[in-house]
Amino acid sequence: MGNWFEAGHVAIVTGASRGLGKELARELLGQGLCVIVDGRDGGALEAAEKELGRLGDLVAIAGDVADPEHVRGLVAAAERRGRLDLLINNASTLGEVPLPTVEALEPQTLATLFAVNLFAPIELIRQALPLLRASGGGTIVNVTSDAAAEAYPTWGGYGATKAALEHVSRVLAAELDDTAVRVLVADPGDMNTQMHRDAIPDADPDTLRDPSESAWALLRAIAGMREPFERVRLAEVYA
Ligand SMILES: NC(=O)c1ccc[n+]([C@@H]2O[C@H](COP(=O)([O-])OP(=O)(O)OC[C@H]3O[C@@H](n4cnc5c(N)ncnc54)[C@H](OP(=O)(O)O)[C@@H]3O)[C@@H](O)[C@H]2O)c1
Repeated sequence: MGNWFEAGHVAIVTGASRGLGKELARELLGQGLCVIVDGRDGGALEAAEKELGRLGDLVAIAGDVADPEHVRGLVAAAERRGRLDLLINNASTLGEVPLPTVEALEPQTLATLFAVNLFAPIELIRQALPLLRASGGGTIVNVTSDAAAEAYPTWGGYGATKAALEHVSRVLAAELDDTAVRVLVADPGDMNTQMHRDAIPDADPDTLRDPSESAWALLRAIAGMREPFERVRLAEVYA
């Protein structure tokens, strides 16, 4: 991969103890960025920190993105580095598995889905925007899903959170029209990760993308942005 980002820039990547987030952190560290990451399971995050910390300036903070205090800690870490150039809202939940039909979707599951997949990214964006602006622009990436648009049975709750995240991303971009802050919505497609195994345990792993390929494609899509708002299907970037 060429260097698509500036060494010394600062990124926040949520949900980076495994899967896509971890591979994004790996690539960004390789390009000389300071990368601030999180994950709820402190042990898993520590293991990722041990592996990735050798590659560069990694800050790992255990916590739940749905906790505004934790979100403040992520932004405070970027403030201590003096800037923020890239915010990737990647952490996400399926709510419960097996995924329920809409009829079986309990209010508590729905509340968790919206708290993690929608309210948390909005809160992180709110808290990060002053620093993004002060750093001269930067990019907000919200990781969504084809379930935001397609009517897959049992994916209604999760899909609704991603559809809402996509819409709020469009509105945000319109509101940021007079700034240098850009917004990208990215649908990664099916990846060989824990989330996919939890959702569809009998999927053939050979048919799924390795998250390292997806990370490469997403960073390429960010670097190639031409418009203040874009929606990308990574399946089109690999092609
Ligand atoms: N995998 C796919 O096929 C697929 C398809 C379409 C879209 N996506 C999207 O791609 C993104 C990455 O998914 P993935 O497959 O890489 O997921 P994954 O393997 O399950 O990894 C999720 C990461 O997020 C962390 N996380 C989960 N909930 C969190 C919370 N409340 N606060 C902080 N961290 C949290 C997890 O650690 P802890 O559990 O320790 O917190 C983990 O590090 C998600 O937005 C997902 O919706 C995935």
